[in-house]
Amino acid sequence: MRKPLISGNWKMNLNHFEALTLVEKLAYQLTKDVFERVDVAVHPPFTDLRTVQTVIASDSLEIQLGAQHCHWEATGAYTGEISPAFLAKLDVKLVICGHSERRELFGETDEMVNHKVKAIIAHDMTPIMCVGETLEEREAGQTETRVLDQVRAGLDGLKREQVGQMVLAYEPIWAIGTGRTATADDAQAVCAAIRGAVVEGWGAPAGESIRIQYGGSVKAANAAELIAMPDIDGALVGGASIDAEEFARLVAFAAEA
Ligand code: PGA
Repeated sequence: MRKPLISGNWKMNLNHFEALTLVEKLAYQLTKDVFERVDVAVHPPFTDLRTVQTVIASDSLEIQLGAQHCHWEATGAYTGEISPAFLAKLDVKLVICGHSERRELFGETDEMVNHKVKAIIAHDMTPIMCVGETLEEREAGQTETRVLDQVRAGLDGLKREQVGQMVLAYEPIWAIGTGRTATADDAQAVCAAIRGAVVEGWGAPAGESIRIQYGGSVKAANAAELIAMPDIDGALVGGASIDAEEFARLVAFAAEA
């Protein structure tokens, strides 16, 4: 049984004071029994990580700490970049890589994503590797080809047991931050195809245990329907994750799904 993972991707929102307030509100609203059924993670901006780590540790919260991005090298002359080793030292458990905003706005390629996935695993953290098609690709009937190409390229060279412990996030680009969501049936079909590609490339046990999230305008109102789908194992949530009440409601619905 794959335990659903609900990840809050805060993107470039909230300074470290605001981050502290949000995590404290969340901790207050998320009940203990919710964590038995779903894993919950927050991915604050880099400058907030230490603050959030301290709250999680001092209050023994079950919320997991995540980052939004990292470089693949551990140290060196990479001005402005963040080492996966530094994230691991801050008790970061999960790192998003290949988010469509990184791919589109900052030129991240499949090859770079593949380097990052390997580096994140090498530092004992879990990658959340994002894939997704543009609206043009969807309308041209290329959704599956595009998404499966990204999956195969991003996972290239990984061992079966490494892939089995990862998280993938299917995020149709046209659904991110737009209020438009893929229907649960559409999202399920793509997630099933992704799982099929993992089984084909890395074996049935890896395909069975890898968690596949859906992302793109997930809210409390649509989370349960998506997560109830057999191949959707959680959600990567942007906008709705920086509102404590909405995110707590979303997590509670996901726990019931
Ligand atoms: P959204 O973002 O929930 O605001 O659509 C999702 C994401 O980009 O991860």
